[in-house]
Amino acid sequence: MKGIILAGGTATRLFPLTATTSKQLLPIYDRQMIFYPLNVLVKGGIKDILIIIAPEHSGHFVNLLGSIFDKHDIHLEFKIQKIPRGLADAFIVGENFIGNDNVTMILGDNIFEDDFSEDIKNFKSGAKVFAVKVPDPERLGVVVFNKQMQAIKIVEKPKEWISDYAVAGLYIYDNRVIKAAKTMKPSGRGEIEITDLNSWYLERGELEVGLVKGKWLDAGTFDSLLEAGNYVKEKKLYENFHPAINEAIKEFNEELKMLTKKKL
Ligand code: TTP
Repeated sequence: MKGIILAGGTATRLFPLTATTSKQLLPIYDRQMIFYPLNVLVKGGIKDILIIIAPEHSGHFVNLLGSIFDKHDIHLEFKIQKIPRGLADAFIVGENFIGNDNVTMILGDNIFEDDFSEDIKNFKSGAKVFAVKVPDPERLGVVVFNKQMQAIKIVEKPKEWISDYAVAGLYIYDNRVIKAAKTMKPSGRGEIEITDLNSWYLERGELEVGLVKGKWLDAGTFDSLLEAGNYVKEKKLYENFHPAINEAIKEFNEELKMLTKKKL
């Protein structure tokens, strides 16, 4: 299993904060946002992770993460997505990195309280995504369940209400996702939609939809960014990190302190 964090985009809803750095490097309480999706993948046992970033501020990602995991058997790669072509573009940009493996993709601004390590470790084939009840499904990909809680339909930003369940930003696919992504046509808003990829698996009876437990936030607005920071602090979610990530952050901080002392 390979891992991808989709951490590009334009983050217009967070202007002017994102004029000086990337959304995924903004703080969620005591650490940068990117550590949250990274933690989901590392906890799932994934050791090879591709971080897809936008050209602006790309150096900031390398400064923070370029060598932070050298001692921890976690291999990070970076790739630039020049134009934000849509979430399904992750599998086209990441084609060579994925190779012949399966892949778990997570959005760089998604904060989950839930632990998906068993879902990632036990994945065999097809696709698995996760739904969450939200008050504003019309701005997201929405999934309709039958009485047995089997997914029967997935629609991107439906104009009329069809369900309260939105698809959260964590997706596990088998290797066919690369070929499928290449057949996707851009939607009305000019993006290749992950909802079309999920429908591709659903039509073949190969899409499993689990439910997210606990809090889920996409920290893409001022309010949700603040809410995420407060929630993480209140619930001490920073204590639930994989030890390798906590140790790497600690080492990074110590090195930074030492270098600052030397400079002084
Ligand atoms: P969005 O929040 O939909 O888009 P955005 O981050 O550009 O923000 P805004 O709507 O405020 O302009 O993206 C969700 C996540 O996916 C986020 O981490 C950015 C990332 N992303 C990419 O890396 N490439 C893309 O082509 C798109 C559409 C999103």
